[in-house]
Amino acid sequence: MKKLSLLLVGFLLIFTLAACTAEEEAVGENGEEIPKIGVTVYKFDDNFMSFVRRAIEKHGEGKADLILNDSQNDQAKQNEQVEMMISKGVKSLAINLVDPQAAATIISKAKEADLPIVFFNKEPSSEDMSSYEKCWYVGTTSAEAGIIQGELVTDTWKANPDWDRNGDGKLQYVMLKGEPGHPDAEARTKYVIETIIEKGIEVEELELQTGMWDSAKGKELMDAWLAKHGDKIEYIISNNDAMALGAINSLKAEGYFKDDKFMPVVGVDAIPDALTQIEEGVLVGSVLNDARNQGKGALDLALNAANGKDILEGTEWKLDDKKAVRVPYVAITIDNIQEAKDCYAQ
Ligand code: GAL
Ligand code: CA
Repeated sequence: MKKLSLLLVGFLLIFTLAACTAEEEAVGENGEEIPKIGVTVYKFDDNFMSFVRRAIEKHGEGKADLILNDSQNDQAKQNEQVEMMISKGVKSLAINLVDPQAAATIISKAKEADLPIVFFNKEPSSEDMSSYEKCWYVGTTSAEAGIIQGELVTDTWKANPDWDRNGDGKLQYVMLKGEPGHPDAEARTKYVIETIIEKGIEVEELELQTGMWDSAKGKELMDAWLAKHGDKIEYIISNNDAMALGAINSLKAEGYFKDDKFMPVVGVDAIPDALTQIEEGVLVGSVLNDARNQGKGALDLALNAANGKDILEGTEWKLDDKKAVRVPYVAITIDNIQEAKDCYAQ
């Protein structure tokens, strides 16, 4: 009996070793060994993040053996995925947190395994970032999207005096907010309004609720708000395009965007579906959130970290004092729509 189990253990060992070496055989274009990199996306089912994910995959081709995980909007699941990837021998991690507050948990796991981490899209707090030497961030300056969106609202509002339907000189708006506590959602919500006010326009908030970045939730909220306020609403400001597109569906069902019935809507991301709406004269504009460069940046840094190189080696990225690479946002209207199209063409 004892002999048999020893034999079994022996076999198992051989099999595991064989499996390990088989897994380690990923090679690059020139036959060289390429490092395993563990990637998580907070949920695959997010319009904008699906473009970031594609950019990571594309730029990783032939250079990294990527283990990609859908964290399904569940931080506990993501924690397990990180442990699994560490046990599979990844050389670095590229993490899109589910909960921005969970960075410390992920950092402690990486620290234990002495693994570098590149966070992307959801920025950890500066305390978390400074708690570990081997962590970096790739994303944007969240407030910038709000400021640019505020300028878009202001310019279009001033150019279209009839949008002030009740003629009271104030802009009555509803706000579709992204995930509460998400640095992008908080900053966009705050800075878009601050910018409009700074530019001399009085505002009145009719509604502000979270649509969790999600199109279906954006539509639901807009259905309710239209039923309640009708055309007392003068502007729809959305933290992202997915929710703006949901709102547009709701408006279309109420007869907007035909026979002179119009409602201004602005978003952020400039994803292809939003660009179509801009071309059709429905969406006023958006703010390009450069998925391609954020995906590429996250991969570039994670790859350098995995290869034990200097984090910026061979790249044109720059780090700020928060160890962050920040890709700029760009205002998108019909006039420069091609810039956004190129970005998403990949
Ligand atoms: C934002 C983006 C949203 C959503 C979110 C997910 O930067 O604008 O559409 O994808 O990230 O964290
Ligand atoms: Ca008004």
